[in-house]
Amino acid sequence: MDQSQANAKVVVDGNTFELPVIIGTEGERGIDISKLRSLTNYVTFDHGFGNTSNCASAITFLDGESGVLRYRGYPIEQLAEQSSFIETAYLLIYGELPNSDQLRHFSESFTEHSMLHEDMKNFFDGYPSTAHPMAILASMVCSLSAYYPGIDMLNPTKEDFDRIVVMLMSKVRTIVAFAHKKSLGQPFVYPRHDLEYIPNFLNMLFSSPTHQYKIYDEVVQALKVLFILHADHEQNCSTSTVRLVGSSWANLYASITAGICALWGPLHGGANEEVIMMLEQMYREGGDVDKYISMAKDKSSRFRLMGFGHRVYKSYDPRAKIIKKSAHDLLKKLGIHDPLLEIAVKLEEKALADPYFIERNLYPNVDFYSGIIYKAIGIPMNMFTVMFAIARLPGWIAHWKEMMESPGAKIGRPRQIYVGMNKRDYVPITKR
Ligand code: CMC
Repeated sequence: MDQSQANAKVVVDGNTFELPVIIGTEGERGIDISKLRSLTNYVTFDHGFGNTSNCASAITFLDGESGVLRYRGYPIEQLAEQSSFIETAYLLIYGELPNSDQLRHFSESFTEHSMLHEDMKNFFDGYPSTAHPMAILASMVCSLSAYYPGIDMLNPTKEDFDRIVVMLMSKVRTIVAFAHKKSLGQPFVYPRHDLEYIPNFLNMLFSSPTHQYKIYDEVVQALKVLFILHADHEQNCSTSTVRLVGSSWANLYASITAGICALWGPLHGGANEEVIMMLEQMYREGGDVDKYISMAKDKSSRFRLMGFGHRVYKSYDPRAKIIKKSAHDLLKKLGIHDPLLEIAVKLEEKALADPYFIERNLYPNVDFYSGIIYKAIGIPMNMFTVMFAIARLPGWIAHWKEMMESPGAKIGRPRQIYVGMNKRDYVPITKR
């Protein structure tokens, strides 16, 4: 990050103050307002942080106007096509692509840490079989801190960090698979040392004592692409939450748990589940997409087209472009005809031609087509958001690490503009 020669001038109550301008490596400019209050006694007001950078970050570059997304400088399209999820995770967390020794060591550590402490299996007995997998995931990830060592926050070491990274990524996958088995009332399938990350996960999800799940390359490939595309997205709601919670030096398990909870909301990661619910409802009602487009435009209803719109993208989400193609490819390869894909395509076409959506730059986002892929693989709808969580882990971890290592890091503590009652005296209840 460069400090620009130029300064920004702010005129407050007739007085002019100069504020530094900072420039990112892709030319993004920001006015550093960190001294604004001490200089002027004013704070800024920015509902939903639409215009506020909370940090400088070297992890992911996103240009929402042009539909560009890069991890550590590498275009997302190249990574989705040529990299693996584990390699991309390494890149995000450690900053560079691994060499073959580093990658082998990283992958082997996943195998080493894939089991869950046997006592933690008992936790699953306490949940009803109808429990949402996000509820299970959030509490189980937080509970990992009770069973496994964390990082000494006063004396963090690289070894501790490396161990916790693979432990989290590996065990989260096992927790999600066990949560699925719990919902089916089936015995847990343990991780296997001979399988790679995604096949191992699929095997834990779908095999049983009476059935050996056949792992198709097409399915592994489709899931790999989804995982890579979801792996990071700079300062989104869940990642900012991980940073905010981590800024108090809360341990990594607790910070990630907070991120999982933030992801659950239907305006964020929970949208992938909502999209399929919406498409199914349209299908049941005969595929009348116009009715839903009208509902989405009607400001008197809270209904929104799920999987549409984005805070940052004002053009087609580059992830959605790849996922749409991947959905078509996978269904074709598996010989599946899913009417929901046809409805989704029709809905997209109509929405993109509608002035409401054009004026507001609303395009399909990452969640619009991903559910069609999960559904084709056989993953139940209430598992969609935990799939997102597995994939987003490398991003959350990378941001937590970056924040912890950043020399100027401070506890996150926004200001507010108080709009409540002015001072008044307490009135005893007998006199009210
Ligand atoms: N359907 C109908 N109208 C919409 C939609 C939508 N999906 N999204 C935005 N709008 C309208 C919104 O009503 C507003 O209209 P107006 O200017 O007339 O008040 C305008 O577009 C701007 O929307 P906003 O709510 O100010 O935008 P935001 O940046 O605060 O919200 C969003 C972004 C993603 C929460 C929102 O687009 C949305 O709710 N989309 C549906 C949920 C969804 O798909 N979420 C997944 C996001 S991508 C995955 C992730 O990163 O989490």
